[in-house]
Amino acid sequence: MWHGRFKHDTAKIVQDFTQSLDIDFRMAECDIKGSLAHVKMLGKTGILKPDEVNKIEAGLKQVLDEIKTGKFTPSVSLEDVHMNIESRLTEIEPLGAKLHTARSRNDQVATTTRLYLRERELDIKELLKILLETILDNAEKHKFVIIPGYTHLQQAQPISAGHYWLSWFEAFLRDYKKLNYALESLNECPLGAGALAGSTLPVDRFSTAESLGFNSPTRNSLDSVAQRDYMLDYHFFACEFALHVSRLCNDLIIWNSQEFGWVILPDEFCTGSSMMPQKKNPDVLELARGKTGSVIAQMMDLIINLKALPMTYNRDLQEDKRCLWQSIDTVESVIKILSPLLSKVEIDEKLALATLEKGYSLATDIAEFLVLHGVPFREAHLKTGKLTGWCIENNLRFNDLTPEQLKNFMPELNYDELMKILTPYESVNRRNIYGATGFEQVALQIEQGRTRLKTLE
Ligand code: ARG
Repeated sequence: MWHGRFKHDTAKIVQDFTQSLDIDFRMAECDIKGSLAHVKMLGKTGILKPDEVNKIEAGLKQVLDEIKTGKFTPSVSLEDVHMNIESRLTEIEPLGAKLHTARSRNDQVATTTRLYLRERELDIKELLKILLETILDNAEKHKFVIIPGYTHLQQAQPISAGHYWLSWFEAFLRDYKKLNYALESLNECPLGAGALAGSTLPVDRFSTAESLGFNSPTRNSLDSVAQRDYMLDYHFFACEFALHVSRLCNDLIIWNSQEFGWVILPDEFCTGSSMMPQKKNPDVLELARGKTGSVIAQMMDLIINLKALPMTYNRDLQEDKRCLWQSIDTVESVIKILSPLLSKVEIDEKLALATLEKGYSLATDIAEFLVLHGVPFREAHLKTGKLTGWCIENNLRFNDLTPEQLKNFMPELNYDELMKILTPYESVNRRNIYGATGFEQVALQIEQGRTRLKTLE
């Protein structure tokens, strides 16, 4: 394409080193979409004649057809998808030589990438919606199931499993909003920015922006070809999403282990061992957790690439898409498998309750009950701590205490009244404040969650 200035062809080793076909050929259809909008605009502005436009359009459609039917064989000697398509177009239709009028690959790459990224982000958005629905369904299903809540991985207080699922609803809903922001930040069309400074030809950037479904053209040609913020916005979403996934998966892996055991994973989503016949391993959850590292690494790859890069386009930027696709493909594969897996997770309620017996996790309930009887909280904390210590030493649970034993520590309490509230069910039920684990609150959040999901956009 640039042989005018050169005496020798580019060395084969350089062609292989500089090509981006392996990264950008997946954008072929979007590239043609961009070219069709460009050529239509060239006709509208009188830069090309109507019959030239028609012929180039027909040629582009034939190239598209060849790509779709697998007849198109791109060559690395033509560096990237953009030049391959233009070259094939010009073989079919010599007027193809006019297509690149008032366009550089710099604005073309930026436009094509945005078109393709938008499609993929929209796919992920749909999948994320399914994940959110699945989580709400789980919250409904496990609303009255009581599990231990942990801090420091030590039993803290009993919670409704529905409440646990709802915590992921909140996290993934924030991810959804970040993805929406990423979609918004790519919603300006760089086409017409040219190599970096625009064009002397009277192109109509508003018209191409509109026909490609962008809100508006970008406002600064230098910014348009130099920056990759819209990709970073995707990566920020992806990293947060992957971090959330890794924590959720890790919980389920731990709770499914023999030491906890009250989470039951579906057989179809587990694998066995080639040697140990008894094994049922949570490999899907482990891989989803493990892939988080790659998603974070892809973001770091781009950030490091961009650091201190001189304005405007530099060839370093060609590497931007490699990490973008790696991240998108990973996120998509994780989210696709996570929803069906989660929808089949079961909880062994009896075992979860039995686990709670070991942890003195109703101690805070006793302390707060003392507060209701006029004891200052610090004092109540101390008294309950002493009682707990004594119970541990004597190998007793709170419910094993006799009225006399209780009286020694807390003379202000009525034994029967205390025992009535000293159950995991009451512990959860009585936490009836906004955002807390109480059953009524969980039901409210599920209901509101459904509306929030419906009114999302
Ligand atoms: N293959 C290049 C890329 O994907 C195309 C842009 C080339 N621009 C340039 N000034 N050499 O980034």
